[in-house]
Amino acid sequence: MPKKKVLFFDQRPRTLPKQLFGRKEEIEKLLRALEAGSWVAILGPRMVGKTSLALAGANAFADETGYNVIHIDLRDTETFREATEKILGRLPKSILDTLSKYVSEISASAGGMGFSVKLKKTASARRALADGLFKLKDTVLILDEIQSINQGISHFLRALGSVFNENHSLLVIFTGSYSGIVRKLFESTYKDALFGRPPISIKLAPWKETVAEEFLKTGFEKLKVHYEEWEIRDAVNQLGTLPGWLNLYGVKRYIERDHETAMKTTIEEAVKEAEKELEHLLEGRSPKAKEVIRLLAFGASWSDMAQTGISEDALSRLLTILVDGLFIVEKDENTGVYYFTDPVYRKAAMKLPLVTKTKTAI
Ligand SMILES: Nc1ncnc2c1ncn2[C@@H]1O[C@H](COP(=O)(O)OP(=O)(O)OP(=O)(O)O)[C@@H](O)[C@H]1O
Ligand SMILES: [Mg+2]
Repeated sequence: MPKKKVLFFDQRPRTLPKQLFGRKEEIEKLLRALEAGSWVAILGPRMVGKTSLALAGANAFADETGYNVIHIDLRDTETFREATEKILGRLPKSILDTLSKYVSEISASAGGMGFSVKLKKTASARRALADGLFKLKDTVLILDEIQSINQGISHFLRALGSVFNENHSLLVIFTGSYSGIVRKLFESTYKDALFGRPPISIKLAPWKETVAEEFLKTGFEKLKVHYEEWEIRDAVNQLGTLPGWLNLYGVKRYIERDHETAMKTTIEEAVKEAEKELEHLLEGRSPKAKEVIRLLAFGASWSDMAQTGISEDALSRLLTILVDGLFIVEKDENTGVYYFTDPVYRKAAMKLPLVTKTKTAI
């Protein structure tokens, strides 16, 4: 098959180290960790390049060692059972055939990759997963977006723990944000259940502004797209420095050949995605949490946010997720003001519909 020419800007995740811009230190750390037999967790906000780093690192390692790479996207996979079925469905058929006591159904997967597997109702997902992964040799397994799993976490950690101890030729790269299961991977209370050592963590931050500008300029020069300096600054000001949004702007700019059109469509798409993330975060929380998010769009101190009437506990939990979990809010230590670091999230927060107060009878 003829190979597709890879453009400098590409909508899909990168798969090779040479396609990663500005991530030299991170890729080297990832490779050192894999070489040392460590499991790794790549943590960061959406669009920072987690999947790209995981794939590029795993492929480079596989190239050196002859290992296989299996990438499993667990976004929208909420239970450990579903996750197990997804993972088993991607194991080589020869391994899958040895797991028949756990499996009620195997069919060709609709997505084309691997198989669609159903566990027997009575089967233990923990045993099935551990059994399958014990047999998976010389492989880098990428469990992408692992924080989606919110049911059966302790079973998952226990299965992984026994696999870590028993199968030394399986390496796992987790990606996600520092919440839910990812946090537990590192917590000492889970240490015994899991491996004696938590995974090595690689925190992926948005680029520095200089790197972001360099990325766009390098791409435009390679693709012979004419640009003005102010357009580059405008893109970085309005889109921030997350690689994903800048890359999308690069794709659109390449296609459209017009800064304004490319900016407009990129911002629309980016803000829509960020709104979805915020809405997801707000699901099941009190309407006061939404008011807090809107205040953060303009910058707010703890007492400003407390005035919405949100409980201290709920406010503290919300801020922990925004600051440590999603890396989208920071606190200015001099003024005590919390704010969205990323302009796309700031715009999305401003667009959140205001809480409509129910009319009180006069
Ligand atoms: N270092 C990089 N150099 C160039 N492009 C990059 C880099 N990192 C990411 N990208 C591009 O940005 C986009 C998003 O990257 P990726 O999907 O890896 O991010 P992610 O953090 O996994 O995002 P998501 O939260 O959507 O899963 C992709 O189009 C990818 O090609
Ligand atoms: Mg990803």
